[in-house]
Amino acid sequence: MRILHIDASASNAETSHTRRLSSELVERLKADHADATVAYRDLVADQLPHVDMTIRRAWLPENADDPTLTETRGRSRTLVEELKAADVLVIGSPMYNFTVPSTLKAWIDHVAIAGQTFSYTAEGPRGLLAGKAYLVLSSGGIYSQGLFAGNDHLATYLDAILRFLGISDIETIRAEGIAYGPEQDQAAMRSASEQISSISMAA
Ligand SMILES: Cc1cc2nc3c(=O)[nH]c(=O)nc-3n(C[C@H](O)[C@H](O)[C@H](O)COP(=O)(O)O)c2cc1C
Repeated sequence: MRILHIDASASNAETSHTRRLSSELVERLKADHADATVAYRDLVADQLPHVDMTIRRAWLPENADDPTLTETRGRSRTLVEELKAADVLVIGSPMYNFTVPSTLKAWIDHVAIAGQTFSYTAEGPRGLLAGKAYLVLSSGGIYSQGLFAGNDHLATYLDAILRFLGISDIETIRAEGIAYGPEQDQAAMRSASEQISSISMAA
């Protein structure tokens, strides 16, 4: 089983809720699969540039031999191949301003490429990926229910883009209401950890 583990929190391993939970989840999955391999991408320590004209040109087959695009093409290929190779995708993401951090959005812009991870057909777009995704999310407020549910453009967005790319088996783990005080913070983390402990991917 090949796991692609992605973190996007600007906080470090000691303080980040999503980094702690996403690594707990990866350890849980590894416990069920002794042969699991993990590719790890820290989108904050190793930031991707915003998509620009050079990157767009590197995607085009007619520029496959352009030597000025070798490095850009190589990075693009690595990102896409890494995602295609994954059986399980684990994304640890805080909510920033109601949605994904821009570092994670940049990664999505790098991997959502027509002809590679999705295609357009006469019937509409078709995702070319498969497999399972776990979304490990955290937010200061509560969005899974209640007054502010309409402001959730994090879980809803990640769900939409992954389905668009063909990954429809998606499980979401949330530590919410972190800003509501230490008790809610601890309760949210405990509940997320319990959900992770109960996950079983035994073959
Ligand atoms: C730049 C920034 C923007 C944030 N925007 C929101 C937001 O829109 N809604 C919210 O509920 N929390 C927001 N938060 C709080 C984080 O989502 C929350 O602290 C979360 O637990 C962070 O996860 P982490 O500990 O893994 O970094 C924001 C935090 C930062 C640093």
